[in-house]
Amino acid sequence: MSARPRVVITRKIPAACEEDAVKHFDATINREDVPLSVDQLKEALRTADGLLPTVTDKVTADVLGAEPLRTKIIANFGVGFNNIDIDAARVRGLTVTNTPDVLTDDTADIGVTLLLMVARRAGEGERHVRAKAWTGWRPTHMLGTKVTGKILGLVGMGRIAKAVARRAHHGFGMKIIFHDPYPPKPEEAKALGAEQKGSIEEVLREADFVSLHCPATPETRHLINGERLRQMKPGGFLINTARGDVVDEAALVAALRQGVIAGAGLDVYEREPAVSPELLAMENVVLFPHLGSATLETRIAMGMRALENLKLFFAGQPVRDRVV
Ligand code: DGY
Repeated sequence: MSARPRVVITRKIPAACEEDAVKHFDATINREDVPLSVDQLKEALRTADGLLPTVTDKVTADVLGAEPLRTKIIANFGVGFNNIDIDAARVRGLTVTNTPDVLTDDTADIGVTLLLMVARRAGEGERHVRAKAWTGWRPTHMLGTKVTGKILGLVGMGRIAKAVARRAHHGFGMKIIFHDPYPPKPEEAKALGAEQKGSIEEVLREADFVSLHCPATPETRHLINGERLRQMKPGGFLINTARGDVVDEAALVAALRQGVIAGAGLDVYEREPAVSPELLAMENVVLFPHLGSATLETRIAMGMRALENLKLFFAGQPVRDRVV
């Protein structure tokens, strides 16, 4: 048996991370790059000292029930860890880590991209040109909604929300309002031109654009439901770069159809990679395939951060990003 810890990496990762992984670990990397089955995940837990899954691997209580359990640490490739049953991991005595910080800016950039695209009808306009349907400039052609000076409402005010606020306030002169049960310090909010509201409802009622930045937990599942969508301004836009579960996708489809809100920019979906077929047919939505952290630089940084957590753990040192 190799003296180096045995680690299973569930998907292809950037080359620099692969090199680092094979240098430090007896690493098995799923270069096929298709999701591992439940049985394959269980087998990994039975045979490896560490598991490096991604945010799409469902490490459920059933998977974590694998016997005999050899794995001691799950180093998630992602900041979100709703793919892992944290309570079951705790019960099994596992350490779980994530990759915060390194993807904050890229995810904020994608949030702002969605906001601009949906407001200015950029996806629709691009399709129009490619379809050779454009007949030329005219004063009333494809009019969108002005962004500069509008009100951006943030649901959740963690790292990514603050990075969005910074861009929106300092870049587009937007007024920022937010709700978070754990708000930032007043001076931090002030620097972002951000005003705290006492409830999500207040944010929904006042904002022209609502951007979601809360984690996916049982409490936040369908936080944005039909009732809350109806509290938004009729000309309002919803942006989701957080997790699909936070929005009731069927209710969102209904709200868009009925003109309850003006449009949506989505990077995440309730049943990824499936997207409601109704959304695919709507011009007033912009749809990305979970691109938040998808730059080479950031994906390398995420992989390195997950590997760093594994290295620290196997060296008997405190991990950097402990979730459990
Ligand atoms: C994460 O890390 O949670 C992101 O959703 C991946 O882009």
